[in-house]
This record gives sequence, C-alpha cells and structure tokens, in this order.
Amino acid sequence: MPDDKKSCLSGSGLTKIFGLGRQKTVAVDHVDFNFYEGEIVSIVGESGSGKTTLAKMLLGLINPTEGEVYFQGQKRDISNQKKKKEYWKSIQAIFQDPYSSYNIFNKIDAVLLDCINMRGGRNLPHAKKVELMTEACSFVSLKFEELTNKYPFELSGGQMQRLMIARIFLLKPKILLADEPTSMIDACSRATILGMLMNLVLETGMTLIFITHDLGLAYYVSDTIYIMERGKFVESGSPDEVILQPKEAYTRRLISDVPKIHEEWDLSTV
Ligand SMILES: Nc1ncnc2c1ncn2[C@@H]1O[C@H](COP(=O)(O)OP(=O)(O)O)[C@@H](O)[C@H]1O
Ligand SMILES: [Mg+2]
Repeated sequence: MPDDKKSCLSGSGLTKIFGLGRQKTVAVDHVDFNFYEGEIVSIVGESGSGKTTLAKMLLGLINPTEGEVYFQGQKRDISNQKKKKEYWKSIQAIFQDPYSSYNIFNKIDAVLLDCINMRGGRNLPHAKKVELMTEACSFVSLKFEELTNKYPFELSGGQMQRLMIARIFLLKPKILLADEPTSMIDACSRATILGMLMNLVLETGMTLIFITHDLGLAYYVSDTIYIMERGKFVESGSPDEVILQPKEAYTRRLISDVPKIHEEWDLSTV
C-alpha cells in the first residue's frame, strides 16, 4: 500500500434493508469504511453476512436504504444513467458465478470489443482492436483466435473467470470488486486464476475489494481485512492484527474454520 494514502472509496452509515415489517432483513447495517488508492481490502464473513449486498451498493446496482458512498473524497452521484456509466469506468466487478456475468447472446469477441469501446477505443483501426484483445487474452493464457465466434456458455467456469480478468485488463478500472471470484471454480484452476487476478491488480495499482468467506486466503492477499458479521463490520485491521490478535469471538471462529492457514494458499508457487 502506498504511504501517502488517498481515499478511493468510502462510506458512512451505509445500510440496506430488504422487505418490510416482520419480513424485514437488515442486510447491511450502518457500515463505515475508507478504502485507499492501490489498497487490497478483503471483506470476510460467513454466508448471509451481507457481503454481496454491500458490493452491489458500492457498484451502484442497488440503492442504499441509508448512508452515503464517497468516491475519491466526493459524494458519489449516480443519479442518472449517464453518470452511472461514467462511474462504471472507475469501478468494475467480477462475480462468483461467471455465467451470470455475461449476456449469453453476445459472442466473446463482442464482450471484449465492448471493453475497448468503453475505454474510448471505438474509432481505433480493427487491427489495433484485435491486437488489444489478443494481448488481454494472452495475459490470462487464453487464445483469442480460438475464442472468436464462441459464446460464453461454450467455455468452462475457469475459462469464463479468466475472460472476466481479460475484461478488467482492457477496462483498467480504478477499483475492482471481486465477489468470491473463485468459489465456483474447480480447486486446481483456483490458484491460477487468483494469481492472474493478483498480478493484474499489482501491475496496474488498482484498488481491489476482495470478498471472500476464506480468511486464510484474505490473510495472504490483503493490506486490510474487514470482518463482517450480520451486516456489520465487527473488526478491521492489517492481516496480522486481525488474524494473529483477533478481538472478536466471531473472528476467532472464522480462523478456526481455516485449519491450515499458513499452507493452503501459498501463492508464491503460482
Ligand atoms: N434481494 C433481496 N431481497 C431480500 N433479502 C435479500 C436480498 N438480497 C439479500 N438478501 C438477504 O440479505 C442478507 C445478506 O445477503 P448477502 O448480501 O447475499 O450475503 P453474503 O453475500 O455475505 O452471503 C441475507 O439474509 C439475504 O437473505
Ligand atoms: Mg455473497
């Protein structure tokens, strides 16, 4: 993390309540946070703790019931479609289910072309676009020539997530939000995909908000860890603070769920 810490994304009192009356669920409950430029932040919590709901608010896909989001120190304004599109140049996401992230009627080259267009490359010569797409694919060890004319559902889950990383390679957002990006991927591709994701983040200096239920993994990749329990951030700090000196019983329970915290995710071998 850089020393001169500049706020990239922050929130105050951010809250999301679903439903009414007895059906009411407080999915996210008055969370405060400040994520810095170039920082790798993990949000760790059990299933149902509110991680995805928070992610959707940060992305502007759902509106908070209460509270504010600040982008680069300014109150975020996504009050119309044009402003939302502008905001999405700065923040992009990779979700858990790779198949849900694509329009199934779009061929893969169209998916990648869209990214180039979004970055203002609409008028580039065709050969240049192909060069950029080829470069993005090779970054994630995919062959662009083999992907053109294919549909997303013709790829494996691992290939789909790699394609997602290729999209991010082209889009180069300031912030990447990765919501359990490897939890639906088979174990043997998981480390490879994670390695590619980390390389991209470190190379570009983007801020990564990494959502996971795996505290062992968070320990390896993060500058800062936020622990989420029933919609609240109950603890935060450096990985050593949170994992070696946990203050909350909930955090200790998450730690005990990771039997081999120092072995399971040795990314140095990727
Ligand atoms: N669209 C929705 N309508 C009603 N309840 C929801 C909705 N989305 C999430 N929830 C509820 O909010 C809580 C947090 O869910 P979620 O954010 O998906 O947690 P996580 O990603 O940590 O597993 C859960 O109790 C879930 O059932
Ligand atoms: Mg989730």
